[in-house]
Amino acid sequence: RSAVLKSTSELLRRSRRGYSSSATPERKVAILGAAGGIGQPLALLMKINPLVSSLSLFDIAGTPGVAADVSHINSPALVKGFMGDDQLGEALEGSDVVIIPAGVPRKPGMTRDDLFNINAGIVKGLCTAIAKHCPNALVNMISNPVNSTVPIAAEVFKKAGTYDEKKLFGVTTLDVVRAKTFYAGKAGLPVSEVNVPVVGGHAGITILPLFSQATPASNSLSQEDIVALTKRTQDGGTEVVEAKAGKGSATLSMAYAGAVFADACLKGLNGVPDVVECSYVQSTVTELPFFASKVRLGKNGVEEVLGLGELNDFEKQGLENLKGELKSSIEKGIKFAHGN
Ligand code: NAI
Repeated sequence: RSAVLKSTSELLRRSRRGYSSSATPERKVAILGAAGGIGQPLALLMKINPLVSSLSLFDIAGTPGVAADVSHINSPALVKGFMGDDQLGEALEGSDVVIIPAGVPRKPGMTRDDLFNINAGIVKGLCTAIAKHCPNALVNMISNPVNSTVPIAAEVFKKAGTYDEKKLFGVTTLDVVRAKTFYAGKAGLPVSEVNVPVVGGHAGITILPLFSQATPASNSLSQEDIVALTKRTQDGGTEVVEAKAGKGSATLSMAYAGAVFADACLKGLNGVPDVVECSYVQSTVTELPFFASKVRLGKNGVEEVLGLGELNDFEKQGLENLKGELKSSIEKGIKFAHGN
């Protein structure tokens, strides 16, 4: 018996190793759309995240299989699968972070806005349930068009009386991941040391990478290179959609990006200092009510929305160019939330 106790305490010790000397808090993460192209690899990555103690996998179909599969991984998080609307409440109850990759992805020739009609309704329904069952959770919105689905979520939460602007995030991490990869490749820098802020929104020209603020700085890149890198970052999603030729959009790199962002949220909640990620949040950085920029994460979600820093002329122009589209995507989301 004592051998069993010993090995149990060793397991607990190991699961907490590498984090603050006090015990890691229990954290529940729910993934809505967990059986999808993003949902499945994201479930895998959250299962192996040592900050997660409980992982709730919800979808309208397929979650028993995904949950059974992922649950066999020998990491501490306890995994449960939930399927169908009548299990949504239980899936959400007690969640600290809810990640939403539910909804249809793009096919070649489609813009993210073409997904609006289907995904807006899905997001609205899921957010109504979040307001009821876990109103204090941090919400990580992956479902596109993010520029509109985040405002929809905000309106749903306002209507329910649960809105806290510090707790709603549009996940734009994949834009940062792409900008880092493309910049490091072009500049010949070690990618793991590279950082590039990406601001604005999450669609086409609303994605604005700030290569003038990239670290380490590179003086080997021409203005032409920067223009090309900017365009490739903006079109990164389309590059994948076309390569997949009708079989969906980015799933694996998105799952990675979603896991990076959720991990940052969990670290913030757990009191780790100086956790900064770009995210699309309620903002006063520009005149637009929602905008992606660097955000400091803390125990209540957004601790501080950081400003844009110094922009060069090319970036200033990019910022002006994106405002019209971003504004109308935000208004479209708000209008939908009110009209239905
Ligand atoms: P997918 O079609 O493979 O998976 C979506 C999943 O959502 C399916 O399993 C489906 O059953 C589920 N679902 C549908 N309605 C639901 C509901 N009411 N409740 C719970 N689950 C529901 O699509 P994929 O590739 O995983 O993409 C998901 C979303 O993520 C799309 O909207 C896509 O545009 C978006 N996306 C966002 C990115 C970003 O950077 N923010 C990057 C890539 C994709």
